[in-house]
Amino acid sequence: MAKTVTAKAHTNIALVKYWGKKDAQLMLPQNGSISLTLDHFYTETSVTFDTQLNHDQVYFNDQLLQPAQSQRISRFLDLVRQRSGLHAPAAVKTTNHVPTSAGLASSASGFAALAAASSRAAGMDLDATALSRLARRGSGSATRSIFGGFVEWHAGHDDQSSFAEVIQDPVDWDIQMIAVVLKATKKPISSTDGMARVVATSPYYPAWVETAETDLTRMRAAIAAKDLAAVGTIAETNAMRMHALNLSAAPAFNYFTADTLTAIQAVTDLRAHGINCYYTLDAGPNVKIICAGHDTTVIKTALQQYFAPEQLIVAKPGPGITMTEA
Ligand code: DP6
Repeated sequence: MAKTVTAKAHTNIALVKYWGKKDAQLMLPQNGSISLTLDHFYTETSVTFDTQLNHDQVYFNDQLLQPAQSQRISRFLDLVRQRSGLHAPAAVKTTNHVPTSAGLASSASGFAALAAASSRAAGMDLDATALSRLARRGSGSATRSIFGGFVEWHAGHDDQSSFAEVIQDPVDWDIQMIAVVLKATKKPISSTDGMARVVATSPYYPAWVETAETDLTRMRAAIAAKDLAAVGTIAETNAMRMHALNLSAAPAFNYFTADTLTAIQAVTDLRAHGINCYYTLDAGPNVKIICAGHDTTVIKTALQQYFAPEQLIVAKPGPGITMTEA
């Protein structure tokens, strides 16, 4: 009987964002990125290659996906089969502890877990760097979810040189995030398509690549100095520049809802009142608040003026990938 490998990967939130590819096939990004892996949101995936199956069978949160829905997963598994010399279809079971398609980067933890579980189940024994490269082929942000704490994905120039590594783990200072989970709306455009449109049509794109470089340098220094205000300020500016790119694309798009703007304003107001907090946003309406753990209660209380308590989820820095075999 073939072995089943289960992997657990946590999601990560980029503080300096990846937004654009220079090679869509190899998934090479236009710029490097830096993220924080979170403890609260994760994906657990088990994979068994099974010659008895006719085709890949993918269960997502206990629901069998139609082949059209699992195409991206099967394409990824093809890569693993090709590298390991296996031909068997795979049984994949994924449980997502992340609100899907809501901008909490479920593809990051999803493809990191799939890369780890499928490669090990196929008999490959990849180290963390090789796993990071492999996860990248599934989804760019997954490159970083192999690792815990603060992580940098080096853009690189080919398959070998584009991987993530730890900048700081464990994180031994007080930084947390509050995810403001807003009404789940279907994305106006996927991150893959959104970033491609931006690269192709935004006249501001060259400026993004240039400023991302500066942001990376400043963010590395801010993390090394354990400076919450610097980390938050750089992350907030970087996120808004990313969203400004979307507004400058042709046709323009954005991921904001009215609630997004309410949350942004609430964070800005709290800061004006002396609370050290900042926001970042990804390809969805949710707002992630960067703050110290000792301020989470006062921030949550203030936000409850607009949002229900269960919409405010506090997350701490989280660990890298783990695997078990059966
Ligand atoms: C805004 O990793 O979802 O979260 O590589 O096409 O799968 P693909 O895109 P994806 O993009 C994530 C973009 C982001 C920023 C980030 O995580 O760096």
